[in-house]
Amino acid sequence: MNLFDVYPLLPITLTHGEMCRVFDNQGNAYYDLYGGHAVISIGHSHPHYLQRLQEQMRKIGYYSNSVGIPIQQQVADKLGKLSNYDEHQLFFCNSGAEAVENALKLASFHTGKSEVIAFKKGFHGRTSGAVAVTDNPKIQAPFNQCHQVSFHEVEQVDTVRERLEAGNVAAIIIEGIRGVGGIYVPSSWFMQSLRNLADKYEALLIIDEIQSGFGRSGKFFAHQHQNIKADIITMAKGMGNGFPVGGILIDQKIKASFGLLGTTYGGNHLACAATLAVLEVIEEEELMAHVATAGAEWKSALAQCPGVVSVEGEGFMLGINFDFPIKDIRRQLALDRYILTGVSANPNQIRLLPTLNLGKASMDHFVDQLTQAVKSLELV
Ligand SMILES: Cc1ncc(COP(=O)(O)O)c(C=O)c1O
Repeated sequence: MNLFDVYPLLPITLTHGEMCRVFDNQGNAYYDLYGGHAVISIGHSHPHYLQRLQEQMRKIGYYSNSVGIPIQQQVADKLGKLSNYDEHQLFFCNSGAEAVENALKLASFHTGKSEVIAFKKGFHGRTSGAVAVTDNPKIQAPFNQCHQVSFHEVEQVDTVRERLEAGNVAAIIIEGIRGVGGIYVPSSWFMQSLRNLADKYEALLIIDEIQSGFGRSGKFFAHQHQNIKADIITMAKGMGNGFPVGGILIDQKIKASFGLLGTTYGGNHLACAATLAVLEVIEEEELMAHVATAGAEWKSALAQCPGVVSVEGEGFMLGINFDFPIKDIRRQLALDRYILTGVSANPNQIRLLPTLNLGKASMDHFVDQLTQAVKSLELV
């Protein structure tokens, strides 16, 4: 049987990982500055993560949400404390798209309205509602195009206000820091305006922190740099450090009722053990403070590299912009210099999403290797 061939692959077969390093079947060691797409938050095979998962596996790996699962409350308590969102409610699911799907559905249930405001270049996943609020017609099938969604420019509020005035908007959805569409941090003014407009027109503000959350920006959620609160926050990726888990944080004004939302696997014992381990390591190793300081230093150092036009982002979610395509640099970094990096919809941008405990030596090594790659390809 063939695999459904939808992924362009690097010619690398990984066999194991250790913190910010991954190893292939040829004996090569790579720096993972891509974090497997912002997923590896506390490091590959972090000892505390292994211990928590192994212990949980020996006890019970799964039971459905038809019984109480006390470790869910342990996650909720720790998450509430670290994120400063203690008063919100937590619903577990299994992936980013599923978190977005539930957030949109809940906003529509709560408001009784059906339209959603989304933003150009935004990415929210590939399931029906999530892909409908994603600004990429290439990944929307006709089946997905029945939703009532309008796309707006970031940093412009006039068209957003016009749609809200029309009266049927259930939610505004925006990424805390834009990822797939090209790293971009929305301004505080813009995010605060969205907050105010959502309140005025009784729509919910959904902030998608699937990529930018769980400490990646140097605060627990990226929108906390802008001093606003979201009605619903979507989470996944770094939440499980590779274990498939997602969730939404839900404002108290949104009331639960039996059967309103549900899932077979969401919040299972193993997923919760993985999430709890991530939260404990973020707290114990003071990773948010590390990411804030180290990320700012790295950003300045990267801006000095030859050919770099600008560096966007916060903490360890950075986009390095060149005024030429980065395809060859990225390939050389991976295959000759053993450094894995990410791409975005911007062909001139390298996206960095490393583990949150990446150290100075690794950061310096990347600055050096990037400089050499750009020079050796005679791009400047
Ligand atoms: C901001 C954002 N939202 C949603 C998703 C979808 O997450 P998943 O692939 O887990 O469904 C992604 C994935 O890249 C994302 O970056």
